[in-house]
Amino acid sequence: MDPFNPELSLTAVRCWVLLGRLTPTGQRFTLAGAARNRSASPLSGRGLRVDNERNLAAADRVVRLLRHLGIERVHIVQGVAEAAAHPEMVASLALVTPAVSASSPLHQLAVSGTLAPPPLLIHSDAGPLSAAAAFVRVADPDATAVVLGGYASALWTDTVADRAEEIAAALLTHLAEAQRLTPLPTLALAGEGEVAGVTYRARGAGPPVFLFPLHLAPSQWEPILPVLAEHFCTIIIGGQHLGFASILEQRAVGGYGVVVDELIDALGLTEGGSAVDVGCGTGAFTRRLARRLGPAGRVVGADISAYLLREAAALARRQGLEEVIRFEVGSAEALTLPDGRFDAALACTVLDEVDAERALAELARVVRPKGRVAVLVRAVDIPTWDSLPLRPELRAKVAARPTGGVTAGVCADGSLYRRFRAAGFRDVTMGPRLAIDRAESSLPEWRAYYEGSSVGVLSETEAAEWHAVAAHASAERSFLWASAYHCAVGTMP
Ligand SMILES: C[S@@+](CC[C@H](N)C(=O)[O-])C[C@H]1O[C@@H](n2cnc3c(N)ncnc32)[C@H](O)[C@@H]1O
Repeated sequence: MDPFNPELSLTAVRCWVLLGRLTPTGQRFTLAGAARNRSASPLSGRGLRVDNERNLAAADRVVRLLRHLGIERVHIVQGVAEAAAHPEMVASLALVTPAVSASSPLHQLAVSGTLAPPPLLIHSDAGPLSAAAAFVRVADPDATAVVLGGYASALWTDTVADRAEEIAAALLTHLAEAQRLTPLPTLALAGEGEVAGVTYRARGAGPPVFLFPLHLAPSQWEPILPVLAEHFCTIIIGGQHLGFASILEQRAVGGYGVVVDELIDALGLTEGGSAVDVGCGTGAFTRRLARRLGPAGRVVGADISAYLLREAAALARRQGLEEVIRFEVGSAEALTLPDGRFDAALACTVLDEVDAERALAELARVVRPKGRVAVLVRAVDIPTWDSLPLRPELRAKVAARPTGGVTAGVCADGSLYRRFRAAGFRDVTMGPRLAIDRAESSLPEWRAYYEGSSVGVLSETEAAEWHAVAAHASAERSFLWASAYHCAVGTMP
């Protein structure tokens, strides 16, 4: 690995120029210890060859970052798909409340035999993700399991914040054992940057650990960062190509985006108007609202996750929409926005993660009289469908896979329509919709998410059979799948 590779140096220079625009404080980076001689500064590269990064896979982007930092191997937390794609970079692996889609890459890693210590698997004993744990454990029976007792985990729970001590203790024990078996050299990094579209924030001295995004968890790793950084060079990585930032962005480009466009059409927006996108995530639809409202429009994107809002702000800036959109951290259940402020409000796959009654009341509160509100939720009462001609046994297994699930108080079914009326909206339109994705036109992370959740519940032989059927259907362009959503649009009295 050559950190002075001209191609990589340019990537670094370009990214730091970009970061210079993004962060008015400019460059903030220090290197010490083992890395100093190998990569003195991200700005020290000299070769300036423009390379095309657009089609790089997420795992290859991570490899570029590793090279840039002068790291050969790294302890990885989360990031199982990237680890399986490049096992040579992985010293150890730990997973926190993995989804079913982790099973297949975890199994691949187990078979490759590259991990000296068995992977660590921290999971809950309740909630939607506890069902996934059974499948993930089968993928590598040697994995060390640590159970968060009496805890309900979902993709959107703030797991590390909720169970910081147990998770930190389990990770530190696992990493110490990994170091005993596969010692990595000490590195000391402090600062942040972006390489090949992967953002990173480093602190602490010790063997390097990459913390990949943790689902939709609002606090991500922050609560345990200080304790990890006492022993390890702890590097939080993110950006639009990794984790849920990537999945949300790619989902918006497919059939889901077509359905949300129908909702946005029904909002009846006019140029120069105002709108709020509650639970905006990476802002895929906040940006669409902004484009509809034009340069004189005003859009607020509100979300409980500072992590996703950072990605949202970066994407909006890149698309020149920062003058129209303001992002702010806020809870859908208690928005810090004034009464009657907006012409329209949008909330897509958010009421299925929060107290739906309170969120509907808040949407009604912030929209002006005669303003419009559009809500879309996952339809857990309508099965996901795909076109693959699977054997009945395989089809039954795939159909029974654990889904995103629900937690108490949320709305992810046809009760949306009753609740919508009860919240006082009039002239309610829309209804269930199917978001249809086609394998040949789906973006890679979104397609991998669907494939991973299907094969994650199958044995190795069954998974091979599923892949063969999917490959055949893809080749003849007949592989499509459809997820259902409940949609309602109404007017304030
Ligand atoms: C599945 S994502 C949907 C993002 C976006 N609306 C879309 O359709 O692409 C759900 C979003 O709801 C946010 N969220 C969860 N609980 C929330 C709360 N109490 N208040 C505001 N946002 C919340 C999550 O952080 C996440 O960004």
